[in-house]
This record gives sequence, structure tokens and C-alpha cells, in this order.
Amino acid sequence: MSDTTENAARAGDEGIESYRESVAAVRELLGGRRVYAYILTFGCQQNEADSEKLAGMAEQMGYTLCDEPDIASLIVVNTCAVREHAEKKALSVIGQFKHCKRRNPGTVIAVCGCMVSQRHRAEELKERYPYVDLSFGTSDLRLFPSLLLERLKGGRRSFTLPPDRPPVPEYMPARRALNYRAWVSIMYGCDNYCSYCIVPYVRGRERSRSPEAVEAEVRGLVESGCLDITLLGQNVNSYGRGCGFGCDFPGLISRLSRIPGDHLLRFMTSHPKDATRELADVMASSGHVARQFHLPAQSGSDRVLSAMNRGYTADEYIGKVSYIREKLPGCVLTSDIMVGFPGETEEDFAATLELMRTVRFDMVYSFIYSPRGGTPAASMPDQVPEDVKGDRMRRLLELQTSISAQINEGLEGRTMRVLCCGPSRTDAGMLECRTEGWKQVLVPAGSLEEGRYADVEITGTGAFTLRGTPADGK
Ligand code: 5AD
Ligand code: SF4
Repeated sequence: MSDTTENAARAGDEGIESYRESVAAVRELLGGRRVYAYILTFGCQQNEADSEKLAGMAEQMGYTLCDEPDIASLIVVNTCAVREHAEKKALSVIGQFKHCKRRNPGTVIAVCGCMVSQRHRAEELKERYPYVDLSFGTSDLRLFPSLLLERLKGGRRSFTLPPDRPPVPEYMPARRALNYRAWVSIMYGCDNYCSYCIVPYVRGRERSRSPEAVEAEVRGLVESGCLDITLLGQNVNSYGRGCGFGCDFPGLISRLSRIPGDHLLRFMTSHPKDATRELADVMASSGHVARQFHLPAQSGSDRVLSAMNRGYTADEYIGKVSYIREKLPGCVLTSDIMVGFPGETEEDFAATLELMRTVRFDMVYSFIYSPRGGTPAASMPDQVPEDVKGDRMRRLLELQTSISAQINEGLEGRTMRVLCCGPSRTDAGMLECRTEGWKQVLVPAGSLEEGRYADVEITGTGAFTLRGTPADGK
């Protein structure tokens, strides 16, 4: 182990003693009584993964997790800040929890995540939401037990703002909802500063977990029967940068690919400027990496991409996609596209549609630009009017729906291996399954078993969903 790796590994333990003491002290205060914790999550997979840690910590402290805020003695709201709408929704839900506190004054209400990492939001909670007991950001999850303990002991309300250089703690247990699918964070934060994005301000500087810690977690999951593991990071391609691990993201993928088992690894999100040929090469030579690539393009206009500070042109983006497709035939390619970035003209938007026609993504997550206070784009001139943004969004969806439908039509009649994931939330009586590329396939429930792989024949297709039946006619 090099000195730096040792330091990094040691950083994983930073704060562990006070963490353990706080967990034990809360447990003692709860005194073995059955007390419930309710955790509500907004936002992205990173937040879902963080909530699994919050749930793990709550259980460790002696809480029983529940789905009912009314019976909970501890309510945790994990918030998102990426668009204004997400913040408004979280604030309105937090407002509703006032009634829980009125009915049961002993309930502790904690708010965490990206929204409350912004000073003005933390202050707003403190001033205008007197029933909120504490708040802390994503880089302070490890402080949850100690902040809770102080409050339970009658201490003051606390509203913690993120530190400049957060550690990378390894001691928080995760309470995972499923045993066959898991998220594994490999890095935190983002240093890219895309001009529209709040994430670097709320999740802090990039920092990576050690390869040893990531490998140990993935190995443990595989050994316990997990079949599908998503490696998470705001920009996974920056994994290990400046950490002295001697292991970058392709290196990590190679290392994890050596773990034996019948599982697949996937990852998100990959920034196009850092997605290297080497990464596609490593994916192609690994028997364990799913043929799926989420590569957010954001726009097809070089002028807009430059104003967004994305660090690539549309041609460079297309070049990367060509290489990925050459190396990984059949790879499912998805993207994030934004409409209405400040100054986006009709011509810029036409370039985005053109990029979509050229690349032919399997699916696109589309976003209407939302100004975020403190980011450079929020104060750029020529903000696009809402009706224009709405119209562009509609046209974008129309194009992508027809492309997705055409691509999926080509899958009709094929037999595909899928992971069976549980009852469909939209189609009663159907089981939701996922292909290697993570396309949704609905199969009549009862015929297959959740948490297993199965071969299904695709019998019907649409833009968003495929339909199938078990290939062996079960
Ligand atoms: N407005 C709209 N969409 C945004 N995203 C990030 N910031 C904003 C914003 N201010 C989108 C980007 C990113 C995805 C996760 O969210 O497309 O890739
Ligand atoms: Fe935001 Fe850009 Fe970082 Fe993604 S890469 S989290 S869009 S700043």
C-alpha cells in the first residue's frame, strides 16, 4: 500500500469513535422501546443511496423503519436541489409534517440532502419551520447520530452547513431495500461546475472511496447473492483523481470485473468530456459490465455547450458515441438533454434535435432549464421564456418518442435475458423486468420469480416499455 493509499484508507475511519458513541447513546436513550423512523427521499440515485445509509444508521440506533409518518418518532426528509420544483415539493411536504409534531411533540424532524446544504435554505428552515429540529448536508451524513443525540438530550435545534473538506467515511451501514439490486457510491461531489448546476455547491469537492473499500463492498454484495450493482458518482470518470490510489475508473472497473459471480455491474453518471476509449475497451473486455451507457449530452449546439462549460463539442460527443457503439455492439445508450438554457435560440435547439437524430438514443431524460441561485447561468442574460421552453420540450419529446419506438420495434420477437424486479406499479398483474441495457419489459406476474434472471421473448413494443412472455413458455 502506498502512503497516500494508507492515508486515504485511514480517512475512512475519521470520526468513527464519536459516531459509535453517539449511536450507542441514542440506543440507550430509546431504551429498547419500539420507536419508528420514517424516511422520505427526493431526487437522484445518489440520494436514494444516501437514504439507505440514513436507514441503516436509524436501525443501528434502535429505530424500526416504517412507511407512516404519523406513527414515527423520527422523520427524515432527504431533499434535492437540482431544480426549483424539487425544492418547492420538499418544502411543502416538510410543511405537512408540522401536524405530526403537533400530535406527538416528541417527534424529531430532520431535513438533510442537497437543498439544506445551501445557506439560504438552512436559514429559511431555521426561521420559518420551527418544528424542524435539525438539518445537515450530504457530506455530513455521518453526523446524523450525534446531531440527533444532542437534540434528544434537549439540546438546541441545529442547522449544519457542509465543511470545506469532508472525509470519506466507511462506517455507516446501508439498509438496502432489495437483496438482488444495489447502489454502491464510489465517489462523492463534483468539480465540473457546469454553469447551470447546483451540485458542486451542495455536494462539495470531488472525493473518492478507496478501491479496497469499493471492492470489499461489491464482493460482499455479490457473495450475498446480489445480481445487479450500479456504481454511483456525479462523474464516475473522475474516480480516484488526485487521490493517489493508482487506480482510475477504467482501473476500478477492471478490478471489480475480476470478482466471480453471475452478476452485472453498471455505472452512472459518466461525463462525456472524460469518457475515454480506454473505458469502452475495459467494458468490452469485461464479462461483468452491462452494455448500457448513460452519457448526458445536454445540448447539440456548440455555442450552448460552451456556455454550459461542458468541455466538448457536438462532434466530439458523436465521436465518443461511435467508439462506444463500435466496441460495445447493442449497447443501450441514454442521455440527459436540457431545453431552454439561457440564450438558447431556435437554431441552437434545432442542433439539439439534429444530435438526437444522429445519435438515436434509446431513451432521453429531458429537463426544462431551471435557474439555480448562485450558479453562473442564473444571472446570464436572455433567459428563455417559459412558453418557449415548454414548446421545445414538447418537440423534443415527440422526436425522442418516435426514435425510441422505432428502436424498440426492432426487438420484437427476440429472446432477451432479463432481471425480474417486482410487481409493475402501472400495470396490475404484470411483473417489471429489466434487460441488460435496463429497458423495461412487462411480463405476466406469477410466471417468473422476482430477484432472478429469466429469458423472455419480446412480444410487444412501445416507446417506453416492452412486453414479453417467458421464453420456455412457462
Ligand atoms: N435545470 C434543469 N435541469 C438541470 N439539470 C441539472 N441542473 C439543472 C437545472 N438547473 C439536469 C441535467 C443533469 C440532470 C441530472 O439534471 O440535465 O444531467
Ligand atoms: Fe452538475 Fe455538471 Fe457535475 Fe453533472 S457534471 S453534477 S451536471 S456540475
